[in-house]
Amino acid sequence: MLDELFTLLRIPSVSADPNFAGDVEKCAEAVADSLRQAGARNVEVMKTPGHPIVFGEYHTDKDAPTVLVYGHYDVQPADPIDLWDNPAFEPIIKITDQHPEGAIFARGACDDKGQMFMHVKALEAMVATGKVPCNIKFIIEGEEEVGSSHLDSFLETHKEKLAADVVLVSDTGIISKDNPSITVGLRGLSYVEVEVKGPNRDLHSGLYGGAAPNPINILCEMIASLKDEDQRITVDGFYDDVLELTSEERAAMARAPFNEDSHKSSIDISAHEGEPSYSPSERMSIRPTLDVNGIWGGYLKEGAKTVIASIATAKISMRLVPHQDHETITKLFTKHFNKIAPKSVKVKVTEMHGASPAVTPTDSPAYHSAALAMKHTFGKEPVPVRSGGSIPIVASFERILGLKTVLFGFGLDSDAIHSPNEHYGVFNYFKGIETIPHFYTNFAQLHEK
Ligand code: BES
Ligand code: MN
Ligand code: MN
Repeated sequence: MLDELFTLLRIPSVSADPNFAGDVEKCAEAVADSLRQAGARNVEVMKTPGHPIVFGEYHTDKDAPTVLVYGHYDVQPADPIDLWDNPAFEPIIKITDQHPEGAIFARGACDDKGQMFMHVKALEAMVATGKVPCNIKFIIEGEEEVGSSHLDSFLETHKEKLAADVVLVSDTGIISKDNPSITVGLRGLSYVEVEVKGPNRDLHSGLYGGAAPNPINILCEMIASLKDEDQRITVDGFYDDVLELTSEERAAMARAPFNEDSHKSSIDISAHEGEPSYSPSERMSIRPTLDVNGIWGGYLKEGAKTVIASIATAKISMRLVPHQDHETITKLFTKHFNKIAPKSVKVKVTEMHGASPAVTPTDSPAYHSAALAMKHTFGKEPVPVRSGGSIPIVASFERILGLKTVLFGFGLDSDAIHSPNEHYGVFNYFKGIETIPHFYTNFAQLHEK
């Protein structure tokens, strides 16, 4: 089971970089092969205008419920590659403090090849023992890390093929190895690139400095003004649609274990930041954010160059919560950013990608099936938690297919997804493979036709 996962991890299926397009395709074929080998039927690598989607299914009984398993085989770029202790696409098992049983180090080990592959291996185990309690369909996509832009139209075109009772996704995490949890909320996302243009060319900073507008200085001032002294985002209308949780809901959330000190020490910071009236864990889940993800301009190489750049650029992401709409937020941001620009510069805002926030039910047969499955294999009832991350397609499953999702992830926040040295615990990998079949057994029993 580890060797076969390693084969997938060796394929650098980086969806963001066109140089890897061949590897992305190769990875889709490898996923399809592994599904066929596990016993899935009608396995196809289906073309989209972007990267392909892998489909497969296992039909067990027309009266059994149908579960649509979603995952993604694409990964984030490995950059900065110098910070990896081992090459990102040469998987290796190493022991860590958190993972005395060992952890698989590779890009995609947790997000999402390792978690997606648990479902393939769980199917294989069920087929081998002759006990597959539900009908299962798989869609494994290759564009999640770049916003899933072709998946909506794929869902529209293949409504019938994808018909199911619930969606099951392992692309989130648990609180810790002895505190299982089920994610019941994801944030949305509005992601923009902003450009500030001053003079028509780079200038000598001695000859022109003092009177020529410096777009880097100006961009920094503009960005700094996007939050006030209480860390509230100043974009006009930004909070208009934010759903405030009730004090009961907040109290329920606060029961999930979260240790502020160990959280700080895990990322080596001495203080959290953010809105004072919300706890750090609330700021990372039920509150919206605005973060600069990259900023550049001017001279960035060795040594000093005295220059006033013509252009400064930044990438900015805003994580959104119910009921914020990413298109509305992008419009509000664009209007606000133009409004605060001084006369001396021109600004341009380009939309990069958007995702809707999602909340999943805790009172459904599918949720109970997942909770019971975890209770069985962890020996402890999982707690529902809201996550700060985004999975764009979850809202689309509801809007287009009318399906609710169960977020049945087994990763840890410390797994360094999107970072150098991403890893996935061997414990977590096998715990997932062990737990998934219990979900199907429970769901076949709890689901009424
Ligand atoms: N699997 C993550 C999202 C995630 C991780 C949610 C952990 C909850 C817990 C997913 O692959 C991801 O990285 N999503 C992107 C979405 C974006 C590229 C549109 C994100 O959240 O930044
Ligand atoms: Mn993911
Ligand atoms: Mn990701």
